[in-house]
Amino acid sequence: MNQPVSIAVVGSGYVGLVAAACFAEMGHSVICVDNDEAKVKLLRGGGVPIHEDYLPELLNRKRANKVEFTTDLRVATQRSQVIFIAVGTPQSKTGSADLSYVDAVASEIARSIDDYKVIVEKSTVPVYTNEWIRRVVERNGVPKDLFDVASNPEFLREGTAVVDFLHPDRIVIGAESERAGNLLKSIYEPLTSGDYYGLPQSVPGACGEKNPPPILLTSTKAAELIKHASNAFLAMKISFINVVANVCEAVGADVEEVSRGMGLDSRIGPRFLRAGIGYGGSCFPKDVAAFRHVAEQLNIDFNLLREVESINEEQKHRFFQKVRSALWTFRGKRVGVLGLSFKGGTDDIRESPALDIVEQLLKEGCIVSAFDPAAMERAKEVIPSSPNMRYASDPYAAAEEADALLILSDWQEFAELDLDRLHYTLRYPIVIDGRNLYDQGVMLERGFTYLSVGRPVSHQTRDAVMHRLP
Ligand code: UGA
Repeated sequence: MNQPVSIAVVGSGYVGLVAAACFAEMGHSVICVDNDEAKVKLLRGGGVPIHEDYLPELLNRKRANKVEFTTDLRVATQRSQVIFIAVGTPQSKTGSADLSYVDAVASEIARSIDDYKVIVEKSTVPVYTNEWIRRVVERNGVPKDLFDVASNPEFLREGTAVVDFLHPDRIVIGAESERAGNLLKSIYEPLTSGDYYGLPQSVPGACGEKNPPPILLTSTKAAELIKHASNAFLAMKISFINVVANVCEAVGADVEEVSRGMGLDSRIGPRFLRAGIGYGGSCFPKDVAAFRHVAEQLNIDFNLLREVESINEEQKHRFFQKVRSALWTFRGKRVGVLGLSFKGGTDDIRESPALDIVEQLLKEGCIVSAFDPAAMERAKEVIPSSPNMRYASDPYAAAEEADALLILSDWQEFAELDLDRLHYTLRYPIVIDGRNLYDQGVMLERGFTYLSVGRPVSHQTRDAVMHRLP
């Protein structure tokens, strides 16, 4: 393996914590910094604040000698050659990214620099942030030759974050100086050389000794843009297929067939063409808005992104209308809900379309019984338990005596339900699937009234719901 690098990662959210664990897994020594004392205490004690495959084992394996946790940014900076900034960049009222955390961290790092450091943006930030960090550090009196600022955007997805990090489609490094570029390249050497994949304990995934991930060296501005443009493009792909799904519904075609047919074109590709209730999470909504805002600031017309956002919003309303078409009235109806997270495989509920739909159901007077394998604790903080909002112990308990069951997150276990048991448990065998987890034919055969997204409605279902009627 390559020479280990001493690394500080500032921020222990999804990106920071996963990056810290994975850098340690790659052989580097890592100090993870967070100003949340309770979180640092939890991490030091062996706890893991987020639900992410492989993360607990990686942290356990490395906690003893490769990853430390601290609230002291000054000490972490002084002990590290490279400092990754992975703090939050929340959405401000105008849609732009709020960079105040990045600014504060950059100033504090600057005040602690006593020898050459590379400061790296890992958070998703708008173009020119690199430039701003450089200015902030200089304003704090650090000479130009004592630091570089680089950009190394992260493309991991929640739920598969560790595998995405260690088996990336590409590694992007934006650096203006050769010294910074080379140091960053050396951090990723265990992956780009393929050596990591030959280790007996390596996390399995798509890359291997013979097919290591490609590394792309760019300017810092290009690296910043690659991240924003990639997320905006993926969100656009989802909104595109969602509108195609709506056209499919209108003409009686199946969007699953259409997306398969489109995805086989290698220029389009099959991924991120799943129709549903719209995208959510802490990234796409925020990043589409921030990228649109960047374009506006530059007087560039990027109204396409506005459309992407409004289609995404509309998709939730359309789904809600579908629920209405099956239930007719809402007041006092019992609705089972499967899934509260913004997608399957994560406990994250930020910008979750599922939560918006549950809130709407409650507003209309429904009694909701919801189940999610990981997100219920977090959901309770936003929608507390009440006589109208119950949290169930499993999918069948959520379905018990319900007038209809809604599937709102694509957890694998929701695609593998015992359909006979479900039929028996529901008051009326109505399933409204916002994630197209089931085959329509199978659901009809098993006696369900089944509504999904972008698929033709069978005669039986049409008779059972007020489809298309206002
Ligand atoms: C997204 C990107 O996929 C990552 O590459 C990026 O690093 C990350 O944002 C980030 O910027 O940090 P993530 O938000 O974890 O990752 O989740 P995705 O798997 O991309 O899903 C986002 C949303 O789109 C979810 O609500 C999901 O259900 C929805 N989606 C996804 C669809 O509706 N259809 C699809 O075909 C794919």
